[in-house]
Amino acid sequence: MSLPDFETLYGRPAAIASEAHGRVNLIGEHTDYNGGLVLPTLVPHKTVVALAPRGDDRVRVWSAGFSDETGPMEYRLGDETRGRGWLDYVQGVTWVLARLGHTICGADLRLTSTVPAGAGLASSAALEVAVLRAWRAACGLPIDDVALALAGQRVEREFVGAPVGIMDQLVASCGRPGEALRIDTRTLATEAVPIPPDAALLVIDSGQRHGHAGGEYRTRRDECERAAARLGVSLLCDVAAGEVSRIDALPPPLDRRARHVVTESARVVEMVRALRADDLERAGALFAASHASMRDDFDVSTPEIDALVAAAAADPDVFGARLTGGGFGGAIVALARRGREAGASRRIAAAYYARTGREATVLWGKTRTDPILPANRD
Ligand code: GLA
Repeated sequence: MSLPDFETLYGRPAAIASEAHGRVNLIGEHTDYNGGLVLPTLVPHKTVVALAPRGDDRVRVWSAGFSDETGPMEYRLGDETRGRGWLDYVQGVTWVLARLGHTICGADLRLTSTVPAGAGLASSAALEVAVLRAWRAACGLPIDDVALALAGQRVEREFVGAPVGIMDQLVASCGRPGEALRIDTRTLATEAVPIPPDAALLVIDSGQRHGHAGGEYRTRRDECERAAARLGVSLLCDVAAGEVSRIDALPPPLDRRARHVVTESARVVEMVRALRADDLERAGALFAASHASMRDDFDVSTPEIDALVAAAAADPDVFGARLTGGGFGGAIVALARRGREAGASRRIAAAYYARTGREATVLWGKTRTDPILPANRD
């Protein structure tokens, strides 16, 4: 069944096209709300928005994959109401733009996306950034890319109610396909880091879904804040990796949580060094150390994810593998030999099935040359 185009939905053409990619985090997990470093890169999967401004305050939104034959969902600017599922991300954008003092027009929107939800590829950040870019272009809003990312984070935290860090929105807004982005989440300073030409990234979905609006993600954040308070610092990454004895003296599980965050941020520094030196063995070892830390100290892995990581790590064409994203399900990222990714991902999925009876989905790295399209910068 073909999807209705913009004209079929709204009886007139779209005026604005924008898009934003999902991301895979290479290393630096659960460090972004602790003032630490992260190193994500864009995946080819993206959300595309078409928008036509309106002369009134109505907003109509149609989304492939969510809307049914009843047509677009609708609300009025200033009347955003939580609890309408995927529409909350769009309502959150107009709600935040108003709070930031911007005057915007009503609009008709059509959304499509290839970023899978709940797989750890930051589908909601791609949606927020793509929709923010569309309204920025439509209304000529004076918002730079960093401010746009911060607005996306506010959508998530203040409207949707997920207490996320800044990594996902910042890489969706400021990242470029084909390179990693080192982000210092304390200063929001960014630096592009090349991915070595001999390396290929595999992203493989375990099939276990996750969500960040409550539950364990929030618990981890609280534990980090409690650990920081006990250590007398405002953010956990104010504690140096060398100050292990202070961390070891914390009561469990705060000791393990703090150890993960502080050592993980230090691993980002090491990873940038390894990638710049084309040292894929070292980069793979850092992936393995990061996964062990997430599993044993931060407790965000699952038996299924561990099985998938083990299957990947055992492959002869893989340098290392780890859980990526918030955890409790979702996808893994593996660093593989370029040109060998198709065979490696096939073997990993087969080994995972043999161990767990679950089907893994290769989201990136199935073919030798996944298309990477340039992100829309408007
Ligand atoms: C989610 C959040 C991010 C980050 C990661 C864990 O993706 O949106 O801000 O905290 O989890 O690294």
